[in-house]
Amino acid sequence: MSAQSKPLVFVTGAAGYLGFEVVYQLLEAGYAVRGAARGRKVKLLEKALEKYPRFEVVEIADIATADYTAAFKGVGAIIHVAAPLPGRADSETALNSAIEGSLHILREAEKAGIKKFIATGSMVTFPDNAYGPNDWVPVTKQDAIKGNSFVVYIAEKKFAEQAVLEFAEKHPEMDITVFCPPWIFGPLALGFERMIPEPDFAAFSTSAFVYQLLRADNVNYHYTPGVLDVRDVARIHIAGLNPLTRDHPKRVPLSSPYPADFRDAIKYIHDERPELRDRLADPSKVPRWPSYKVDVDMQPVEKAFGISLASYKTWKETILDAVDRFVDVEKQWKSKGFKVEVPTAPPM
Ligand SMILES: NC(=O)c1ccc[n+]([C@@H]2O[C@H](COP(=O)([O-])OP(=O)(O)OC[C@H]3O[C@@H](n4cnc5c(N)ncnc54)[C@H](OP(=O)(O)O)[C@@H]3O)[C@@H](O)[C@H]2O)c1
Repeated sequence: MSAQSKPLVFVTGAAGYLGFEVVYQLLEAGYAVRGAARGRKVKLLEKALEKYPRFEVVEIADIATADYTAAFKGVGAIIHVAAPLPGRADSETALNSAIEGSLHILREAEKAGIKKFIATGSMVTFPDNAYGPNDWVPVTKQDAIKGNSFVVYIAEKKFAEQAVLEFAEKHPEMDITVFCPPWIFGPLALGFERMIPEPDFAAFSTSAFVYQLLRADNVNYHYTPGVLDVRDVARIHIAGLNPLTRDHPKRVPLSSPYPADFRDAIKYIHDERPELRDRLADPSKVPRWPSYKVDVDMQPVEKAFGISLASYKTWKETILDAVDRFVDVEKQWKSKGFKVEVPTAPPM
C-alpha cells in the first residue's frame, strides 16, 4: 500500500507502553498518525516522535468526555488502546473510562464517518488455561465497585468489550475488531526513552515485571499464565486495519504460542547477559504453575489478519530485548545523575 492510500490513524493511549509501540510501528510503515495523550505526556510525546513529519499529538484529557470534532478531522481509522491499568484510577473512573470511553469514541467516529475501529480488549482470566472468543469472566459491575483493583480492571475490560461488540452488531457498516491480549511483555519501543527523561517505573506498565528480574531479592511476578510480546500485539492491531476477509472475527483472543516461564527468563539473562548475573532474581521465588502457556487458537489471526503462526517473538527474544532496553534506559537516567533502583513493590 502506498503512503497516499493509507488512512490517517487516530491512536488513543499513544503515550502508554502498548500505544506508543502501535504508533511507532504505524509510522515506520508509512501511516500518518494522530496520537492522543494527556497532561505532561502531550509535550513528551511530541518530542519523542519529532523525527516523524507524519505524526501529530492531540490532547485528550479524558477519553470518555472529550470533544473529538477537531481530533477526528481527516481520520480514516481509529486504534483505541487507552484504558486505566489496575490501580491507576478509582473504580468508578476506571469503569467509566473504559466503557463510556469506548462508546463515546465509537459514537463520535460514526458521526465523523470513520468506518474502521480497532480496540484493545484483554484476556484477563480464563478457565482451565484455555480461552475462546465466547468466554467471559463472570464478574459483575457490583463486584467491581467493592472489589480490589484487579476485579475493577477485569470488569472494566469485560464490559467495555461487550459494549463495543454490541455497537458493532448495530453498525454493520463499520468494521470493528477487538483484540484481546494476555499479559504484555517485551521491549519499550524505540523513542519511548524520551517519554521517561527521569525515573518513572509506572511508564513500564506490565513490562516492569521483567525489569524486576534485575533485582536479586525480587519476589514479584505476574499472576496468571498467558503472555504476548508487545511488538506482536501492536502489529496485530495494525493488521486489523486491513483484514483479509470481510467476515473476520470481531473478538479475537491472543496468546503466544510459546510457554513463558520466568525461570527460563532468568536463565536466558544469566547465560546471554553475564554482566547482569549479580543483579538477577532468584529463580526459586518464581511461582510454579501447572502450565506456562494458555491454549488459544491463533489460527483465526493468521487466516483473517495474515499473521503467520511462525512469526511470533519467542520468549527468549521478548526477555532479552526487554532487558537490553531497560539497561539503556538506566544508563540514560544515571548519566543525568539520577539514582536508579529497581522497585520492590509489584508494578500492579
Ligand atoms: N499491559 C498489559 O499486559 C495488557 C494486557 C492486556 C490488555 N492491555 C490493554 O492494553 C491497553 C494499553 O495498556 P498499557 O499496558 O499500554 O498501559 P499504559 O501504559 O498505562 O497505557 C494506557 C494509556 O491509556 C491512557 N488513559 C487511561 N485512561 C485514560 C482516560 N480516561 N483518558 C485518556 N487517556 C487515558 C493512559 O494515560 P496516562 O498515562 O496519562 O494515565 C495511558 O497512556 C489498555 O487498554 C490495557 O487494558 C494491556
